[in-house]
Amino acid sequence: MSEQPSNPSRRTLFKAVGAATAAGATASLLPGCGSKNQGSAENLSFTEIPHALDGFHHLPSDYSADVLLRWGDPVIDGVGDFDPAALTAGEQEKRFGYNNDFIAFMPLDPGAGPGEGGHHCRSDNSGRGLLCVNHEYTQPHLMFSGYHDEHSATRGVSAEHVAIEQAACGHAVVEIEKTTDGWQPVLNSPYNRRITLNTAMDIAGPAAGDTRLQTKADPTGKQVFGTVGNCAGGKTPWGTVLVAEEGFGGAFQGDPDNIADPVEARNHHAFGIEPGNRNWGDHDRRFDIGVEPREPNRFGWMVEYDPYDPDSRPRKLTNLGRFEHEGFTLVSKPDRPIVAYGGDDDEHQFVYRYVSRAAYDPADNTGNRTLLTDGTLYAARFDEGGSGRWLALEFGEGPLTPENGFRNQADVLIDARRAAALLGATPMDRPEDVETNPVNDCTYVMLTKNKKRKKGEIDAANPRARNRMGHVLEIVPPGQYGQRDHSSDTFQWNTFLLGGNPNAEDPNERGAYGQQSPTAISASGWFANPDNVAFDNSGNMWIATDGCESFGFHDGLWAMATEGDNRAAPKHFFGCPQGAEVCGPEFTPDGSTLFVAVQHPADGGHSTFDNPMHRWPDNDPKLPPRPSVLAIRRNDGKPVGS
Ligand code: FEO
Ligand code: CA
Ligand code: CA
Repeated sequence: MSEQPSNPSRRTLFKAVGAATAAGATASLLPGCGSKNQGSAENLSFTEIPHALDGFHHLPSDYSADVLLRWGDPVIDGVGDFDPAALTAGEQEKRFGYNNDFIAFMPLDPGAGPGEGGHHCRSDNSGRGLLCVNHEYTQPHLMFSGYHDEHSATRGVSAEHVAIEQAACGHAVVEIEKTTDGWQPVLNSPYNRRITLNTAMDIAGPAAGDTRLQTKADPTGKQVFGTVGNCAGGKTPWGTVLVAEEGFGGAFQGDPDNIADPVEARNHHAFGIEPGNRNWGDHDRRFDIGVEPREPNRFGWMVEYDPYDPDSRPRKLTNLGRFEHEGFTLVSKPDRPIVAYGGDDDEHQFVYRYVSRAAYDPADNTGNRTLLTDGTLYAARFDEGGSGRWLALEFGEGPLTPENGFRNQADVLIDARRAAALLGATPMDRPEDVETNPVNDCTYVMLTKNKKRKKGEIDAANPRARNRMGHVLEIVPPGQYGQRDHSSDTFQWNTFLLGGNPNAEDPNERGAYGQQSPTAISASGWFANPDNVAFDNSGNMWIATDGCESFGFHDGLWAMATEGDNRAAPKHFFGCPQGAEVCGPEFTPDGSTLFVAVQHPADGGHSTFDNPMHRWPDNDPKLPPRPSVLAIRRNDGKPVGS
């Protein structure tokens, strides 16, 4: 591939990439996705905030945030104000859960009611909707009085507290409306709902009913209670929400080496199930693999549910594979297959894509509900020189045969990691969100970090040994600007940016951004550890980070153009209170509100419920720090970032 003189941003970035890597580990030399120079950061006109680290959240002047929902706030009417000392599991089932992560804003059509998602999902109402929020995991040392540190809390939690924790995991649906006093929850809404580790769900797709999913409590292998590790997710154009199951292994205790079945022992090791994990299994026996060795196989999936039907039963979609799902995001085009992209958030794990067998028909809201249960899962191979290929995870094809321990397609999906590795997929630096820019139709892969990558393991797509900073790749499917073929089995790819300080002395840790790196960005324009991503209506990218405190400043949001002169040149928009990461950035359809989830505020050091490092967002001595969702708006009501 030759350099493109018309695209100096690529040329300059790749110089920096070359400098940052060992000989031979170069990124592709393709032009970026945006060949039309349609987008630019000129419309990102906000005044940047500085890098900081304190007990507050930070926004540009001219912006304000409503604290919309906090851990313990009522979701179901009638439970009253939050009193952490009086909290019971039964109450927690009716209150907003812990450690909010993914957010979906699902608009409400004023002319439709519950069960009429087909109408609601076509609405662009930006003043009233359902806020659908994941609750990833619990931290008893920050939730309850009496624990001296994180270790003693997770290893010695009481039965009463386990029950509260299990009710604080999962997901919440809360109707919200924009009033003259800002965004408010609607507490008497018929849609409001909690999904927890006690919620009955179905298992769908090729692995449903397989012997490896059968337990004493469920000999059918088709039903499971609850979901856990709910990190990011996705939305469908037929009005359902996807909830990822990421770090589920931490919910299980026991020693895989004591499991009689070597297949399950290997499987459980791969997901971090070990004797030192939290002690839920002491109080809820299905979380002890010595008692129920197949229960972990019922987690690690994507979950789909219908927020517009409060009585709907969630289902786990086995077609999308079993691993530590960050999320799955959809590309939906009429008369084309649905394509969904996702990442397995662990060191040396893979980027995945799913393609439905049938085409998406916007008029067939019922038929569309089969699209995620009938299709093919692929893993990505990123080749030197900027080309790539999607490798199908299909039983009987290539190495996915009984000779390699696969009995059927259920095995291929349950052990998707092993299947992808055998196919030759590229082990990545912890893939988090993988999401498509609706304007240029290219797909962006957040790679948060990978300290385990050795020098001999670097490659074009993962160019740093001991990658502490993370980076972002750009996948360019074949086709024209804005009209690409995401179902093609081949693609091109670029390095979009390398996280880190562009002035770092160590070339392996030096960041690379945009056209004139390092001068293209301000002193607070750099970041590390990209995790979640969203796109505004202009196609600008908004990256949420998880890990910047390692470099002396808060996690937060950075916004940037994806093409044009300011391609990949970030501006710092939002900063978290200390201890927190920011998750789930989500715009209303008109772009005038940006919701963010501030997760684990005041986490770290010796911070506990009894002695926290701060008490954001209430700053009330009677209340602990609380994970919370903020609704951010420009004071003049114009689109955020414009
Ligand atoms: Fe839960 Fe991948 O962050
Ligand atoms: Ca995440
Ligand atoms: Ca995270």
